[in-house]
Amino acid sequence: MTTLPPDIERTLISADTIQERVQQLAAQIEADYRQADRVRLVGILKGAFIFMADLTRRLSIPHVVDFMAISSYGKSSVSGEVRILMDLREPIAGQHVIIVEDILDTGSTLAYLLHNLQSRGPASLKTCVLVRKERPGLNLPIDYLGFDIPDVWVVGYGLDYAEKHRTLPYIAELKRPSAD
Ligand code: IMP
Ligand code: MG
Repeated sequence: MTTLPPDIERTLISADTIQERVQQLAAQIEADYRQADRVRLVGILKGAFIFMADLTRRLSIPHVVDFMAISSYGKSSVSGEVRILMDLREPIAGQHVIIVEDILDTGSTLAYLLHNLQSRGPASLKTCVLVRKERPGLNLPIDYLGFDIPDVWVVGYGLDYAEKHRTLPYIAELKRPSAD
């Protein structure tokens, strides 16, 4: 048994379980896009970079990758003010696009991305999200979902807390700051 970093509460999803699930998601995507000439995976930086790296290497259908970076202000605001920090390199009109996100929390980032990318006229637009926090009232279409998790702050496998713990191979719950 490996020792957890001191600010980690517990492991939620083991490295093996993540890898198995990524393989299953890749298989689902392959089955769904067998007829497509090409798929464009759009990874959302920074959090999705490790998920994207594993997913793309497991996909045997023709596909290309691109990335966007998004910043969201005011986590508390329901509408969620979202801004593009880095846009796609190429147009997506007429293409089959899958957004690859690390985590769905309030959903404002994904809602914004769906709206923004849809307006660029893709042939199809789907979403692939590794983890979703269980929150009442969240109702966004996720076509490929890795895991549902409780509403806690998680790190690892690309996810960070103030840039820490992104490279943990598993997904873990961060300890809550103590009151003292
Ligand atoms: P949303 O717009 O509230 O759904 O937030 C989505 C973004 O917030 C994700 O893409 C992550 O970058 C970040 N985020 C939300 N919850 C967590 C978490 O528990 N750990 C790490 N990053 C998170
Ligand atoms: Mg993110």
